[in-house]
Amino acid sequence: MTRDLSPSVQRDADGRLRHLITLEGLSADELTALLDLAQFYVREAGDLPARDQSLSGHTIANLFFEPSTRTRVSFELAALRLGADVVNLDMQSSSRVKGETVLDTIYTLQAMHADILVMRDAEPGLPAYVAQFVAPHVCILNAGEAHLSHPTQGLLDALTVRQAKGDFAPLRVLIAGDISHSRVARSAWQAFTTLGVAELRIAAPDDLMPGKGEFAGATRFNDIDRAIAGVDVVMALRIQRERMRGAHMPDDASYHRAFGITAERMKKAHPGAIVMHPGPMNRDVEIASEVADGPQSVIQQQVANGVAVRMAVLATIARNVQSRRTFQ
Ligand code: NCD
Repeated sequence: MTRDLSPSVQRDADGRLRHLITLEGLSADELTALLDLAQFYVREAGDLPARDQSLSGHTIANLFFEPSTRTRVSFELAALRLGADVVNLDMQSSSRVKGETVLDTIYTLQAMHADILVMRDAEPGLPAYVAQFVAPHVCILNAGEAHLSHPTQGLLDALTVRQAKGDFAPLRVLIAGDISHSRVARSAWQAFTTLGVAELRIAAPDDLMPGKGEFAGATRFNDIDRAIAGVDVVMALRIQRERMRGAHMPDDASYHRAFGITAERMKKAHPGAIVMHPGPMNRDVEIASEVADGPQSVIQQQVANGVAVRMAVLATIARNVQSRRTFQ
């Protein structure tokens, strides 16, 4: 399968976002506009959630071929709160397990007037591939592509950092753990690099470090105690055992000792540092429970921001589709 990753894949003829497949190629202004709109949809805990009718008449289909809790539920809530019809395909019982191709599944949904298709899949290149074949009014939103890309996660991570820290320019950001298998790390790197953080560090054991051609501009560490010194943001990542084939991995306790984000290690970060994790967490493996639940943790805020960010992406994409329909 070809993975055409030229930024034009996700844009219409006028350069507007038509699909969201990657954060690659999005400018700082485009990212900021999405974050601003997401912020508009954020509500205090305990208040009623934001609602409008931006997606009235649209039909969203959630196609998750890999497990998901946060991303799938937040896309569903975001769509419902914007007035869309939503269908969630149970991929265990979908026709794909009978051998139907993904494209046939997509054409089936398209024939039923589903016009925003949210996809998660373990196959690299699938969202960009599908995007080439859908009808002009149909949009593909990538909700997690193999180890490569998870654009709405990158946006929600950026929003969470902006809420806590304000300005990106002075920040030292550390992404730590299983970098090589992490689409979260790749999309976060794209967002933070474009938004102009002062320093982006990646820290991983040698076996989990990505190839030299990736993460341009990031400083690499294989020693977590050195990597964490003085940083403003610590992002811990889950070990993606499901993406490892035969790789040698230490047991959980040894990994925690060597690389876990512990309270002791957090003392080396900047005193006002925040701690992030995309979830699902392996408590006391990549992150100590007392850190995940502690005062520096913004993990629940990330979850809350996930809904706001997905509302912003859905509203933006729907507005762009609408203007194509109106002016064609
Ligand atoms: C992540 C994912 O699926 O990429 N989770 C998420 O979307 N919040 C990270 C993970 O599975 O470890």
